[in-house]
Amino acid sequence: MDYDVEAIRSHFPILERILPNGKQLVYFDNAATTQKPLVVIDAMSDFYKNYHANAHRANHTLADESTAALEGARDKISLFFGASESSMIYTGGATEAMNLIAYGWARYNLEEGDVVVTTEMEHHANIVPWQELSKDIGIELRFVPFDNEARKLDYGALEVAAKGASLVCAGHVSNVLGVRNDVERIIKIAHSNGARVALDSAQGAPHEKINFDGLGADFCAIAGHKMAGPTGIGCLLVKADALAEMGPFLTGGSIITSVTTEGTQFLDGYSMFETGTPRMAEAIGWRAAVEWLEENINFHDAHEHIHNIASWMSNEMEKIPGITIFGAPGRDDGVGVVSFLHESILAQDMGYLLDAGGFAIRTGTHCAQPLLEAMGVASTNRASIWIYNTMEEAEAFIVHLRDIVNRFA
Ligand code: ALA
Repeated sequence: MDYDVEAIRSHFPILERILPNGKQLVYFDNAATTQKPLVVIDAMSDFYKNYHANAHRANHTLADESTAALEGARDKISLFFGASESSMIYTGGATEAMNLIAYGWARYNLEEGDVVVTTEMEHHANIVPWQELSKDIGIELRFVPFDNEARKLDYGALEVAAKGASLVCAGHVSNVLGVRNDVERIIKIAHSNGARVALDSAQGAPHEKINFDGLGADFCAIAGHKMAGPTGIGCLLVKADALAEMGPFLTGGSIITSVTTEGTQFLDGYSMFETGTPRMAEAIGWRAAVEWLEENINFHDAHEHIHNIASWMSNEMEKIPGITIFGAPGRDDGVGVVSFLHESILAQDMGYLLDAGGFAIRTGTHCAQPLLEAMGVASTNRASIWIYNTMEEAEAFIVHLRDIVNRFA
């Protein structure tokens, strides 16, 4: 079946946007956050208009409806991620989910000298929590290098670093380069060394159907807003035996069986980790996004569509004098990102110049400074493609980019 991109686009009102300078928006900043189909916006609006109340607290009708919606969304979303035998903890996003692994699992199970392995390719969300934990309890943090020449993780170095490790944490897809790590191999290496393994799938989940139970990782962090859902919600998927080893992270109401002036008894399971007023509207919106994806997107076809665009763009960019492409958009492990730099146009200036043509991209360090250091650059421009982008948008981008280089280089 042909990939009907126009049918997909028709669900996203924002894609019609004309910018203040009169230009039609071309949204190529999807790795930062994706746009939302109307059904997501409507589902959240319906909640606020008709049954908004605090979940898990009261016995009135609205509270029951809100609770049912929150928990119904959990069931639906965890099934979507193939986590029927595992637990799903709602978080504010993937960053909070990574912190939950550090403070809700590692803090309770690791001690001074225990080894956590991460990589140079990571978003800061999979680096900084480990550095902080290292200060708190003295874990040893090992970084697996990025092989800049091969443009992928150094798996030989991972084999060495994983020896004696308690936890291996790796990104699923690099947010800077769009390179998909061989997560199946990473899981195998970690487990064969007796280590638990955590995936930061913030950039993986929008591009492939995750089957968490089948994959075999112990933890997986996901962000709703990078896959058509609202901001302010994500989750941590956790294997049952890893969940049993976890202790409270953020504390307060809703996660307890009793509190006295002497101390607190906590609930078991995922309920131990969702303190405060739950993210009802966000969960409802995320469920609507997941249902929309199920009805409208075949991940295999979408990946092919996205890959064709990114790969064509990077080929064309390589013909433009002074442009360097990072990552490997045309390779099989390339996932919809073209990260690039012009030798004489600063990344930030390039961002403004592209915006003048209506093109939204991200510029800077992408919260991944160790990776940029390994690549030997201070910043890049990043065009990230998703399900609703078209080849026509890519062609217009290349025309505009050529014009920028002709005028400003
Ligand atoms: N992590 C997001 C990005 O890569 C915000 O842009």
